[in-house]
Amino acid sequence: MRVAAFTDMTGPDDVSILDRPTPQPGPGEAVVDVEAASINRHDLWILEGADTRYDDDDLPFVSGLDLAGTVRAVGDGVTGVTPGDRVVLCPNQTCGSCRFCYEGPENLCESFSLFHGGLAESALVDASRLITLPDSVSSTHAAALPTAYMTAYHMLRRASVGPTDLVFVPGATGGVGVASIQLATVLGAETIGTSSSRTKLDRMEHLGLDHAIHSTDADEIRAAVGDIGTPDAVLNHLGGEFTQVGLDVLRRGGTMVVCGGTAGRYSEVDIPGMFLKHKRLVGSTMGTQPDLETLVDLVADGSLVPEIDETYPLEETGAAFAAMQNRDSVGKLVVTI
Ligand SMILES: NC(=O)c1ccc[n+]([C@@H]2O[C@H](COP(=O)([O-])OP(=O)(O)OC[C@H]3O[C@@H](n4cnc5c(N)ncnc54)[C@H](OP(=O)(O)O)[C@@H]3O)[C@@H](O)[C@H]2O)c1
Ligand SMILES: [Zn+2]
Repeated sequence: MRVAAFTDMTGPDDVSILDRPTPQPGPGEAVVDVEAASINRHDLWILEGADTRYDDDDLPFVSGLDLAGTVRAVGDGVTGVTPGDRVVLCPNQTCGSCRFCYEGPENLCESFSLFHGGLAESALVDASRLITLPDSVSSTHAAALPTAYMTAYHMLRRASVGPTDLVFVPGATGGVGVASIQLATVLGAETIGTSSSRTKLDRMEHLGLDHAIHSTDADEIRAAVGDIGTPDAVLNHLGGEFTQVGLDVLRRGGTMVVCGGTAGRYSEVDIPGMFLKHKRLVGSTMGTQPDLETLVDLVADGSLVPEIDETYPLEETGAAFAAMQNRDSVGKLVVTI
């Protein structure tokens, strides 16, 4: 089978198509023929050599957390899926035996890690992590969901967002950003989002973005949000200076949920500004498999249409990463196989 592998870690030019033996499932495992795999900035960090958990010893590396396709074969003891089932993978990997695996939520698992290997014609996965897809949910839409939409949905839950809430998303045009806007809208909330690109914000009008702020300047953004209202929740995947911007605009007693640091892994925070107004800063990573099941249901009933910027054949996986690196896209980039 063909895989799109990282053969070095300096950037999108390092993606090559390699041949690998088609995997065979062991006990509890399934092999899925991948039809669509979406990419995330997590993959790009690895490809750029920016994720210190990965180094040359891991090369060649087949990344890809988010895959959907058809079950080719299952191993002994698998009862949840059978060959021919259409499925999406929840990329969470948990130990199954720690306190959080017992009490939930599972994404707090002490040994939490993520599946990699979706950028391939076939993938060997834990069969218990597969969710069966209704016919009405395409593989391309399903593959968009796991990391970006599941993370955004879990963040909205952590902030208890509901109807009438005002939600602020700095950096609203990418995978997590668009998912946050769309899902906040599904929950009945009003949304504010920012981007460096007027063109990309214009492309978000149909996605539920109520207030678009075309700026990357902290003071401009603070003022523009203040003119609109006082957000009940901020979903922050940018970090850096956007953490303080988000805390400044957040209402008294409001919640900022942080899941990423694209604009900087360190943020300086005004501590009195937080405690005097009872503001909460909450960390969040990925979501739970039931979150992903809910998202599949939302797509199946037409409440949510995942936003796909473009699809790329496996041979052009490097071009998909270049588009992400160049900040060219709105929503998800999906490799189809
Ligand atoms: N903890 C978790 O479980 C989890 C899960 C998913 C994602 N994440 C993290 O969340 C972040 C977003 O992931 P993603 O896959 O959605 O990425 P993405 O699609 O590449 O996100 C693109 C967005 O980020 C903005 N952006 C890119 N570089 C920027 C910079 N240097 N300064 C300010 N804004 C910038 C873009 O703004 P413009 O519109 O201005 O171009 C766009 O809105 C990443 O840090 C990722 O690691 C974490
Ligand atoms: Zn665990």
